[in-house]
Amino acid sequence: MSSKIAVVTGAGGGMGSAITARLIQDNFHVVALDLNAGSLEKLKGAFPIDVTTFQVDLTSADKIAEVFKNIKAKFGGVDALVNNAGDCFMSEFPNIPAAEFDKQMAVNFSSAFYCSQESVKLMLERPGIKKIVNISSNGAYNFDVFDPPHYRASKAAMDTLTKDLARRYATEGICVNSIAPAMTESPLFKVLSDEILKKAISQMPRGAAMKPDEIAAWVGFLISSAGDVSSGNVIILNQGRDVR
Ligand SMILES: NC(=O)c1ccc[n+]([C@@H]2O[C@H](COP(=O)([O-])OP(=O)(O)OC[C@H]3O[C@@H](n4cnc5c(N)ncnc54)[C@H](O)[C@@H]3O)[C@@H](O)[C@H]2O)c1
Repeated sequence: MSSKIAVVTGAGGGMGSAITARLIQDNFHVVALDLNAGSLEKLKGAFPIDVTTFQVDLTSADKIAEVFKNIKAKFGGVDALVNNAGDCFMSEFPNIPAAEFDKQMAVNFSSAFYCSQESVKLMLERPGIKKIVNISSNGAYNFDVFDPPHYRASKAAMDTLTKDLARRYATEGICVNSIAPAMTESPLFKVLSDEILKKAISQMPRGAAMKPDEIAAWVGFLISSAGDVSSGNVIILNQGRDVR
């Protein structure tokens, strides 16, 4: 088993499974976290080598602490964390129920916040350069597409966390970056009506959504030694859609 440990949240989803595949290819042992037990089972079966999985609701700080305690006991630490778990709730302002707002922030932002807290404690005990990659969204920056405000805000919060942690831990060798993709083919498309999906894809310069492995390649690059000189950046991936 590889001695380098990468934790990937939402690893059973479209982007998460592509990121897992990429990091396995790059010689990491991947610890895959997801709420969905079925998709974790599928993930385990997809690779010839072992992937450690934990079924966990990442909206719970206590459950996150428990998982990282297990990771520390089993592997001794963490070298890379990819905060990828997320969802997009589609109620429109000004009629967003309080429970939906809270859940949106919890799934997309609090999960990343608490996983980062737990990971940083373990990373500080590890040698070399460690990496946190936050999967944000173009929705935090492009106001012409459909994204609802609580989704945008959850990702903007994540990008502020990226910058804070990058600055805070620069001298300790923890690099923190965000990748903010636009439309990427994944099961998350199910939250969109056919009409909204068609319009959003037609706004992409190549008339097609991006693929999860294209995003995963950037995650892999940041986590590779080539990424050691980058911290505090939000990297927008959208085929050049928003360049003016
Ligand atoms: N697909 C896109 O176009 C797109 C664009 C920009 C950003 N993103 C972001 O990319 C990330 C990955 O999304 P995806 O497109 O692969 O979607 P996806 O639905 O395929 O994957 C999301 C994963 O997160 C998991 N998850 C959700 N809530 C959880 C919880 N409470 N605890 C643990 N796991 C939980 C889901 O079970 C799922 O496996 C998300 O953060 C999303 O906001 C996606």
